[in-house]
Amino acid sequence: MKCADPRVEFFNRLAENWDNEEPSTQTMAMRLDWHREVLDLKPGQSLLEVGCGTGKTTEWFARAVAPGKVTAVDFSPAMISLARAKNIDADFKCVDICGYMPPDGPYDVVMCFHSFPHFRDQPGALRNLRSCLKPDGRLIVMHLASSAHINGFHSGVGGAIGGDLLPGNDDWPAMLQGAGLGLVELIDRADLFFMEGRPSSKAATGQT
Ligand SMILES: C[S@@+](CC[C@H](N)C(=O)[O-])C[C@H]1O[C@@H](n2cnc3c(N)ncnc32)[C@H](O)[C@@H]1O
Repeated sequence: MKCADPRVEFFNRLAENWDNEEPSTQTMAMRLDWHREVLDLKPGQSLLEVGCGTGKTTEWFARAVAPGKVTAVDFSPAMISLARAKNIDADFKCVDICGYMPPDGPYDVVMCFHSFPHFRDQPGALRNLRSCLKPDGRLIVMHLASSAHINGFHSGVGGAIGGDLLPGNDDWPAMLQGAGLGLVELIDRADLFFMEGRPSSKAATGQT
């Protein structure tokens, strides 16, 4: 079924020029290298990348978990088609994470890199993402900037994504709880937004 979310067309239109936009694939790789410790990905893990766009970060994730496998999904057909053309060692699929999710996984890591604010139904997306996780799996929401910067940037762009915001830091515990997840870590500083949730029985008691 065709997705009526206006963001599909918004991102379809951006797809062709996406790789020319900053941060470049190389810059992203360098910045991900800096955050390798907090990411704590391990060889052999399975990873689902949600909102992968043209796959600018997919190769980095595929290398980090090899010989484990990456599945990368996006609801923009134009983005996914450009990602597929890169011959990255990952399985690319066109999926709306806020819509019906066919059973998938389970994954060790579900990674929303530069994508979570755009999910039109964030509680629904969290429930879908939770259903893809192993009992001891990790859900990560990550940006290479603070939440204030990300939210300000989207408001400035306006249009279909003008209202696409990260939840307030105090709102994460309840949002995660609604999806059977608990907050493990939340970092919000100039160079990094990093939120990790885990299936409730595995989560620590709260914000760190
Ligand atoms: C800002 S772009 C980031 C793309 C990529 N992660 C990157 O850093 O280059 C956000 C991506 O999320 C995707 N997206 C937004 N809502 C989505 C949804 N409901 N399901 C799947 N993908 C979605 C968009 O199509 C877009 O490619």
